[in-house]
Amino acid sequence: MRVLGINAIFHDPAAALVVDGVTVVAAEEERFSRRKHGREAPVPFSAWEMPAKAAAWCLEEAGLFPADLDAVACSYDPDLAPLGDLGGDITAEDWEGLRTLYARRTPLFLRAALPGLDPGIVRFVPHHVAHAASAYLAAPYRSSSVLVLDGRGESASHLAGRAVDGELEVLAAQALPHSLGLMYEELTEHLGFRRSSDEYKVMAMASYGEPALLPRLREMVYATDDGGFVVEHIEWGKFAGRLKSGEEWAPEHADLAASVQRRLEEVLLDLVRWLHARTGERVLTMAGGVALNCVANSRLAEKGPFDRVWVQPASGDSGTALGAAMYLARELGDDVRPMPTPALGRAWTDRELEAWLKKANVAHERPRDIAEAVADILANDGLVAWFEGGSEYGPRALGHRSLLAHPGRPENLERMNDIKGREQFRPVAPMVLAERAHEIFDGPLPSPYMLFVHRVREGWKERIPAVVHVDGTARIQTVDRREEPVVARMLEAFERRTGLPVVVNTSLNTAGRPMVDDPRDALECFGSAPVDALAMGPYLARRSTFAKGSSA
Ligand SMILES: [Fe+2]
Repeated sequence: MRVLGINAIFHDPAAALVVDGVTVVAAEEERFSRRKHGREAPVPFSAWEMPAKAAAWCLEEAGLFPADLDAVACSYDPDLAPLGDLGGDITAEDWEGLRTLYARRTPLFLRAALPGLDPGIVRFVPHHVAHAASAYLAAPYRSSSVLVLDGRGESASHLAGRAVDGELEVLAAQALPHSLGLMYEELTEHLGFRRSSDEYKVMAMASYGEPALLPRLREMVYATDDGGFVVEHIEWGKFAGRLKSGEEWAPEHADLAASVQRRLEEVLLDLVRWLHARTGERVLTMAGGVALNCVANSRLAEKGPFDRVWVQPASGDSGTALGAAMYLARELGDDVRPMPTPALGRAWTDRELEAWLKKANVAHERPRDIAEAVADILANDGLVAWFEGGSEYGPRALGHRSLLAHPGRPENLERMNDIKGREQFRPVAPMVLAERAHEIFDGPLPSPYMLFVHRVREGWKERIPAVVHVDGTARIQTVDRREEPVVARMLEAFERRTGLPVVVNTSLNTAGRPMVDDPRDALECFGSAPVDALAMGPYLARRSTFAKGSSA
């Protein structure tokens, strides 16, 4: 079966293609449209962006026409959407009817976006079932307990279940208006950041505070004995004043962030204990925007009852395109295989990359080994834009569209945050060879998708200061040489020069823009940002300060 998955609701529109149960490609629309999260601003009724370019690319890449598809899966079911007032302060219920109507018309929007598509093959998959499938079907386990937590789906904000041989049994679902994801979004907005976009800034800020408000939050936010939870209306202004965008935060803001973060972790632990008591499973798979909270994930992995926690790297709404496609493919009888890699996006051949460099008139060379050449520049304190293979599906750079630096220089944190227009209180993350990770980091291993935080071991903090957060942790990516041979070679080459098997890795993008995806984006970034070199496939373009020979 040829099944196209679509997310076109809320935010992060995306498309994915599953053929005969195998995930072929997947991409987020923002990488094509260059509008972050697929929208201009978080308005009450947002998204409304069909992943038209991403879907067209998925088909083209597989050599298919829209008429060749057997089915299209959309990750929102308008039949489950609420008819009227949801109660509480849910995202502007006045818009609910319009959202539902829009979702119902998705087949017609898709026919316009993909000429030749039969709108009759479009099916709706419940939003949280799509999130869940992106975890239990994408993960390499025959059975698992599944937990989905996000802002909202049609009328719920959570799903807890069990999946055996691809069959999902839903055990609990928390109805709106109670939502841990929306609670975190509201706090994000209260602290002067963009909601459903900047939540990880709150997580970073939490490290600077004390959970002083925990007793009061425990009265308002708590798990119930049916597998769900209560989130009462919180008047944030009572705890700390509202911040405008860019306004300096005070200790009480960090304390509020720390308190909410800690309470979130406590409630999640209660939820997974409830789930484990019912399933007895060894593995927990997770998705939904809340599953991008790597501090909470680590707490679940370390203090929770499951032996292993697997989190879908595209846990935000973009991942529901893949989950919906996998779910429907299985419903149609296919044997659905785990996702092969998160690098499911666009890739170019060496010849195409060289043509781009020539067209842009950028001086470049083809070193004997790009991994060695890049390690050399990094060891000499250069920043390198690294563009290798297919782009990542999901918000993390995992060694394909990355900005790399020497972890031993504390000033590199500031240099990288400057390029990316990020607040200086936010950490950058390290990549490390999988077999070396335990020597340096303490926490859930392996961690190939940067979805957990790890304590940096004593003796290493001062050796890799650029990647150590204020609380002594780092959000690592472990690199398996079988899966990422070029990145692994670069790490080895860097260690030979510096004694450090660790390199700083942050996503390749400039302020406020989506991650670099195509060669044009990479060349624009190289042209406009103070990076010292651009590695594109086997090619290397250097700034004059890193001219060949001068850095060796
Ligand atoms: Fe979602």
